[in-house]
Amino acid sequence: MIAALEQLTPGHKYYEPHGNAKRLMYCRDSEMCIHGPVGTGKTRAGLEKFHLCAMKYPKMRALLVRKTRASLTQSALQIFEDHVIKEGDPIKAGAGRAHRQSYKYPNGSEIVVGGLDNPDRIMSTEYDMIGVEEAVEATVEDWEKLTTRLRSRVMPYRQIIGMCNPSARTHWLRLRMDERITTEFQSKYEDNPVWWDHEKGDWTEEGREYIAKLDRLTGVRYLRLRKGLWVTAEGAIWPNFDSDIHVIDAWDDQQDPIQWHFADVDWGFDRPGVIHVWGVTRSRRAILVCEIYMSEKNMDWWCEVAVRLQNQFGIRSFVCDPSRPDNIDLLNHKLYQVDDHNCAIPGINAFDAGANVVRDRLALRPDGKPGVFFLRNALDEIDQRMVTEKSAVRTVDEIPDYTFREIKPGQRSKEEPAPGLDDHGCDAMRYGMMYLDYSIYAPENEKPQPKPGTADEILRISEFMERIRAGEFEQGDSD
Ligand SMILES: Nc1ncnc2c1ncn2[C@@H]1O[C@H](COP(=O)(O)OP(=O)(O)O)[C@@H](O)[C@H]1O
Ligand SMILES: [Mg+2]
Repeated sequence: MIAALEQLTPGHKYYEPHGNAKRLMYCRDSEMCIHGPVGTGKTRAGLEKFHLCAMKYPKMRALLVRKTRASLTQSALQIFEDHVIKEGDPIKAGAGRAHRQSYKYPNGSEIVVGGLDNPDRIMSTEYDMIGVEEAVEATVEDWEKLTTRLRSRVMPYRQIIGMCNPSARTHWLRLRMDERITTEFQSKYEDNPVWWDHEKGDWTEEGREYIAKLDRLTGVRYLRLRKGLWVTAEGAIWPNFDSDIHVIDAWDDQQDPIQWHFADVDWGFDRPGVIHVWGVTRSRRAILVCEIYMSEKNMDWWCEVAVRLQNQFGIRSFVCDPSRPDNIDLLNHKLYQVDDHNCAIPGINAFDAGANVVRDRLALRPDGKPGVFFLRNALDEIDQRMVTEKSAVRTVDEIPDYTFREIKPGQRSKEEPAPGLDDHGCDAMRYGMMYLDYSIYAPENEKPQPKPGTADEILRISEFMERIRAGEFEQGDSD
């Protein structure tokens, strides 16, 4: 099959699959998933099979999806257009990458591309093959709904292929593979000739560099992205975070309208700084409507962004990382020109209390919904440097890895997070949710904000800690 590729598909670039990528080419099982460390060639293998089948079986129909249509452009379509098909291939004609709806082949085959965020367009027809890029982002409902669309009869078999980095040990896709409903293929660095020289039996120069970079990852991201393991962080600070529940496509503003906005801020330069804009609903739920997550930006830039957000959302307060009163003063000065009250205030950096408040908000309330949601498209702009470093690019990427510090093997502190984590968004969230839940900070409160580090602030924190010890948290949220 592979050897015949060059004659069969003149538009095809040379591709030689290795290891499980090769087995995947021949497998006809109805459900399969290729998973493994980042950069091992999972997406490439899946797409090569798509292209091969499109060439081999005229008039076949395939669907390539990801959770959102926008994220598909960056990952799979880039590999497809730049690596799988040749420059100038007529398959690429028509719309640009970002707006394309399908790839049409001269033999009548078609690969439709779409996002699970717009299911109506893609679910209305029948396919021979379906590929799900970063399948762990999809829900089991998405996956099962997709399998019902595998009803075209052009190819001798029908198949859904998931391509992904590993996720939690208890992820539905991991369990589905454990139950043998989905056939699994694990990819390795040695399968990818860019990193591994099969003739020499050694790493390539690029391979060595790439692995060295990945070796700098820590925690769960290291285990998943570098080692390819399906693991859940031990000692998670917010173990009740579940992206299936907390990350949503849209907020139903009819039912529970957003009434006002506030922001929280974590300063950063070498590591990313963060601003979250939260919409607070009638039921006092917090909805993340906008997130700035950027490294290497100076205070002028942050002030400009804050003023833009202030104009856009009418933000009541920016609750800031209290460690830099000079930054807070500067921000206040800039914001004062838009809104004549002291908008930037120091947040309370009492870790234990803040972590509890967030955990409480993540928990489901009696109506079955949590007290905090993240809009999937809240991120303003992606920090390409973080993409290259395989670091978190948004707060929800940080949360699974946000863990308590290990004091000695098997024992974890409950008072502080592990050192060296990407916890910028998590920190900001602690300040923000403390502000929202505790009346000492509520905007209704007329009392001036105490200066950070002053006796006044310390007194407030200790009063606040008293309220925690008195069990106020156990009773849940203030509404
Ligand atoms: N067998 C192969 N031959 C040549 N290049 C490959 C091969 N497998 C993967 N690559 C290249 O390696 C890079 C990473 O592959 P990709 O499929 O994006 O990895 P993953 O999906 O596992 O993160 C891509 O540029 C891809 O084209
Ligand atoms: Mg991939």
